[in-house]
Amino acid sequence: MNSPSENKQPDLKKGLWLYVVVNGFTMIGSLLMAVSFAVLLMAMGADFISPISNNYALTILFAFLPAIFLFGFALHVFGIIKYRRRKTDEVGVITQSLGNVLSDARSRKIIFFSAFAFIVSLLILSAAGHRALIYSESREFCGTLCHQVMGPEYTTYLDSPHSQVSCVECHIGEGMSSFVRAKIDGIPMIWEALHDSYPRPVPSPVHTLRPSRDTCEKCHWPSKFHGNKLSLFTHFGEDIDNTAYNTVMVQNVGGQDPKTGEYHGIHWHVSSNVQIYYEALDDKREKIGKVTYKSGDKIIREYKLADSDDSKVHETRLMECVDCHNRPSHIFGEKPAFSVDKAMVTGVIDASIPYAKKAATAVITDTNVSRDHAEATFKTRLSAYYAAEHADISISEAQLSTLAAGVAKLFLRNIFPENNVVWDTHPSHLGHRGGDNDERGCFRCHDDKHTSDDGKVISQDCDLCHNLLAEDEKLDDLAEPIKALISSHKEK
Ligand code: HEC
Ligand code: HEC
Ligand code: HEC
Ligand code: HEC
Ligand code: HEC
Repeated sequence: MNSPSENKQPDLKKGLWLYVVVNGFTMIGSLLMAVSFAVLLMAMGADFISPISNNYALTILFAFLPAIFLFGFALHVFGIIKYRRRKTDEVGVITQSLGNVLSDARSRKIIFFSAFAFIVSLLILSAAGHRALIYSESREFCGTLCHQVMGPEYTTYLDSPHSQVSCVECHIGEGMSSFVRAKIDGIPMIWEALHDSYPRPVPSPVHTLRPSRDTCEKCHWPSKFHGNKLSLFTHFGEDIDNTAYNTVMVQNVGGQDPKTGEYHGIHWHVSSNVQIYYEALDDKREKIGKVTYKSGDKIIREYKLADSDDSKVHETRLMECVDCHNRPSHIFGEKPAFSVDKAMVTGVIDASIPYAKKAATAVITDTNVSRDHAEATFKTRLSAYYAAEHADISISEAQLSTLAAGVAKLFLRNIFPENNVVWDTHPSHLGHRGGDNDERGCFRCHDDKHTSDDGKVISQDCDLCHNLLAEDEKLDDLAEPIKALISSHKEK
């Protein structure tokens, strides 16, 4: 490195120049600043003419370039400080020349110009930073930048009622502190993604999720009266015709009754004057110990399990929206047969193909299938399945292809073997889907076993939550009014 001037005479050009090339640090710093700034300007120009839609390009350009610029600046300052410490005698040159600068008209112009350039660069940097920030809040950023990591959540999200709600509205909510926390929490995640060390599957529940009142309740509100909701569940038989069976029920969702002001029904749990606290006995919140029903500070009732072990309590939670609606956006298939039913209702799987339900369920249950070759794998499996089980019927090549395409589509929507997301990895709490002896969803508490001191239980009475209008009936056997209701209702 060339040492600065031996000449102690204040030299304007040298004085200013010194700032740039005092030593290696300032030189590299200047270089980084100049290059990153130039590239940033070009990138912004390009983005202005035709907005960049490539994730990686955007992130690198608008988040990393300003970061590099600031890093260059920091190096530069560091270099000057280092220089000052080491060569105090030379400092005179700089300060003196600065004194000269201020008294000289031409130099004042230079200073003025530099200040102007500095402000403009700040503006440009913050514009780029802002673009990066807005982008970092977008669903594309959250869902696809770490494609492999968020693949399962992003895929299901796009196919959910909330596909137009951005990730941050549920995961981060409003407010500066949660924003900053989310960004800080995100740093180790980026590290994990880069090092391929992220957890598979991404664990659920999300213990750091904001309370529902800061997220869900910005758009929905607990006092809304939903009244009764008609729901239809269609399941298909394993016969050659895939006979459809319908269960029709009115779910007693309730809410605050506009006439009486009282809360009742399923949404009673989130009434303004009711608090339900529960002790989770495992990390997944699948096993629930003591349940306390409070109203304000007053304990109304405590329900306990006879064999519950207090030392196992993982956390005590106040029940809120996500304790039932834990899958508002990432709704994964839980059981192969039920998922095939849904796919047949929506036409993804063609219900006119003989034994489609049975065959599709048989081949999709084993999830050891590469996502890249799903369709080919299922075609081979289906062909073998029909040959082994139903050699008596003839299945055309076209039917086999159609069925394989449908099964593959269902598979790609729900199963992510590389992320260890398979059937039942992320079960929903809404209902009770574990089959016989069900202890899941609502039945975690409503099991007739959680008992209070005065002998009440949290009820499993079949009419508490819904009225079954028809159970497993063929369409033709349903009463006319129910048929009419069904045809006017979206299928579920
Ligand atoms: C409607 C609200 C909502 C939206 C929108 C949403 N999420 Fe979620 N997300 C949730 C809830 C609720 C959970 C589960 C919380 C729990 O069980 O603790 C969750 C869980 C997750 C998990 C943990 C793994 C799992 O499946 O439980 C990841 C990862 C995730 N979300 C990513 C995303 C991404 C990426 C987006 C945007 C593309 C997004 N979320 C959009 C509500 C939402
Ligand atoms: C930014 C607004 C917004 C936020 C935040 C939001 N939702 Fe929604 N939610 C909607 C909209 C809009 C719909 C209606 C979608 C439709 O009708 O297709 C909806 C629909 C729903 C439904 C009905 C789904 C169905 O099957 O028809 C439920 C349940 C729900 N939201 C729960 C939640 C929960 C739980 C949260 C918090 C984790 C949440 N929402 C956060 C806007 C939001
Ligand atoms: C005790 C469990 C439980 C809690 C707590 C709960 N819900 Fe629900 N909610 C349900 C059930 C069950 C349904 C009806 C089933 C469905 O829509 O799939 C429902 C339905 C809904 C619907 C759709 C209504 C319709 O007519 O389509 C919305 C929106 C909703 N809930 C929002 C919320 C919000 C917001 C919260 C928190 C303030 C909340 N829920 C708390 C169980 C719950
Ligand atoms: C954390 C425990 C817990 C879970 C999970 C739970 N509940 Fe409850 N539920 C209770 C308690 C406690 C009561 C009140 C018992 C009492 O009256 O003392 C109750 C009462 C009810 C009532 C009667 C409300 C009224 O009008 O008085 C309905 C309906 C109900 N629950 C539906 C559901 C549904 C549907 C689900 C699942 C989506 C569910 N619950 C999940 C604890 C729970
Ligand atoms: C604590 C509330 C609650 C109780 C008690 C309850 N259920 Fe349910 N049940 C639900 C909810 C909520 C759903 C809807 C789940 C969904 O939206 O997918 C449901 C769904 C069902 C379904 C349709 C499932 C399907 O896929 O076909 C049947 C059948 C059913 N319940 C039967 C019963 C019977 C029988 C009992 C009495 C032993 C009972 N339920 C008690 C809350 C309850």
